[in-house]
Amino acid sequence: MSLKTKLLIALDGPAASGKGTLARKLAEHYNLALLDTGKLYRAVGWNVLKAGGDPENEDDAVAATKKIPTTDLSNPELKSESMGAAASKVAAIPAVRQLLADFQRHFANNPPADKNGAILDGRDIGTVICPDAPIKIFITADVETRAKRRFLEEFGNTGSEEEYRTILEELKARDTRDVNRATSPLKKADDAHLIDTTNSDIEAVFEAAITYVSSKE
Ligand code: C5P
Repeated sequence: MSLKTKLLIALDGPAASGKGTLARKLAEHYNLALLDTGKLYRAVGWNVLKAGGDPENEDDAVAATKKIPTTDLSNPELKSESMGAAASKVAAIPAVRQLLADFQRHFANNPPADKNGAILDGRDIGTVICPDAPIKIFITADVETRAKRRFLEEFGNTGSEEEYRTILEELKARDTRDVNRATSPLKKADDAHLIDTTNSDIEAVFEAAITYVSSKE
């Protein structure tokens, strides 16, 4: 990597694909500023629900998006699958996406001086937010594998079969909404490198990603 050129990595993929963990590892390895863009949509969903609104209502969602600068993005409540569902509802509203796009692009193009660049993870980073990113990765896994990961994260070893089934159905519903929405659907960019994590642990996925990044140097 040329020292003069800042690195920009666009990382996309469905829920519970291992995207967040890979993004954190790449950010640490290459000293990159990291933006988990899913958190922005989760925070919008959270703001809507807190105000007693409907995540599918445009006025409610736009008002909630305007509160983002003062919303605590580290709130642990944002992590739940129910907040993922609210996020995917507000994320289907074009006005919400537009309001969040400038913030994401500014983050991508203006990493702090002490960083070597930026990495953004989400659904439309390689296709819409940073279509010119020199490095694009699309990470995925089959839905049962992703549901098992999310189930273990939420319930550890104490969850029931019924709770697993609920998470599986929620993930399927979220995939359907994210893939089929009219604006910025979840989609692999043509020039993104595909990593399927169904049968790989995070270390193997990380190795595959850095091998790909090295090939682009
Ligand atoms: O990645 P995460 O699971 O936190 O994302 C929550 C939801 O936010 C996704 O299901 C998706 O609907 C939405 N999202 C999006 N575009 C992004 C990031 C997330 O539409 N760039």
